[in-house]
Amino acid sequence: MHDLKIDQAAGLRRMTAPKPVKVVAVTGGKGGVGKTLIAVNLGAALARLGRSTMLLDADLGLANVDVLLGLRTRLNLEHVINGECALDDVIVTASSGLRVVPASSGSFAMATLGAVEHAGLINAFSHLFEPLDMLLIDTAAGVGDGVVTFCEAAQRVMVVVCDEPASLTDAYGLIKVLSRRRGACRFEVVANMVDSAAHGRVLYDKLARVCDRFLGLRPSYCGHVPQDEYLRQAVRRQATVVETHPSSPSARAFARLADEIDRWAPAAGARGGIEFFLERLVRQAPPAEELVAQ
Ligand SMILES: Nc1ncnc2c1ncn2[C@@H]1O[C@H](COP(=O)(O)OP(=O)(O)OP(=O)(O)O)[C@@H](O)[C@H]1O
Ligand SMILES: [Mg+2]
Repeated sequence: MHDLKIDQAAGLRRMTAPKPVKVVAVTGGKGGVGKTLIAVNLGAALARLGRSTMLLDADLGLANVDVLLGLRTRLNLEHVINGECALDDVIVTASSGLRVVPASSGSFAMATLGAVEHAGLINAFSHLFEPLDMLLIDTAAGVGDGVVTFCEAAQRVMVVVCDEPASLTDAYGLIKVLSRRRGACRFEVVANMVDSAAHGRVLYDKLARVCDRFLGLRPSYCGHVPQDEYLRQAVRRQATVVETHPSSPSARAFARLADEIDRWAPAAGARGGIEFFLERLVRQAPPAEELVAQ
């Protein structure tokens, strides 16, 4: 009976041809540059704009979206992939309306996923009941295969940088790895923890110049998020600054970024629904040895 309902719902969704879901991977190369904070606050800002938004915690080694949002989670993506429950069972809705797919904090990694687990992931997402406008993916630090896989499956890759030499060199390294692979990514730079809009621009210009010179590509500039004590306070309260202090400098920055993302055109040629992302996720999943060889 339940299966019948699922099939009917899936059939209905196909008939109504869902609009394409915008899929954005939030990454940056270096650890601690603010990827997760940006993902959760941007997700909350998009939810406040009325966009049906989901955040997938794809930091499969050290997942912490649930901690930042103070969410109680019992089940996570690993249970879904193992076929122990449905995706709808693990989704938690945060107070902003943002829906979160938590991951487990452990040794679990995309690299270990075989054909059966991939099929489980596809099956899980294609049985998602509610249509989505936006899917944000919070990735791990580094350029490991999990990060690369999720970035290549997304339509845009948000590269978070801060004013530290290692952040800029790691962001460049990440862009280099992704740009040399089959599926070309579209890069959007966000300058985090900056003093001013001009400071953000300077960071972006530095990165863009090097990319232009050595890779022959120019990432776009998405905007900046200022260094903000209110944001730190929100972290301690396990809440988003977008909700705790909506008129703070960082919350205003997140609202601006959300507006900007909302204006992005959906990926050209996307058939609609979440299938686009899933097909790419599976098609792009690189064999581990291919990455090691680069
Ligand atoms: N704009 C900001 N203003 C003030 N503090 C910030 C800002 N952005 C990030 N931080 C600080 O940096 C810390 C790390 O942020 P976050 O966990 O989002 O980084 P990350 O890139 O996801 O790290 P990891 O690579 O470990 O996943 C936050 O807990 C917060 O204290
Ligand atoms: Mg993180």
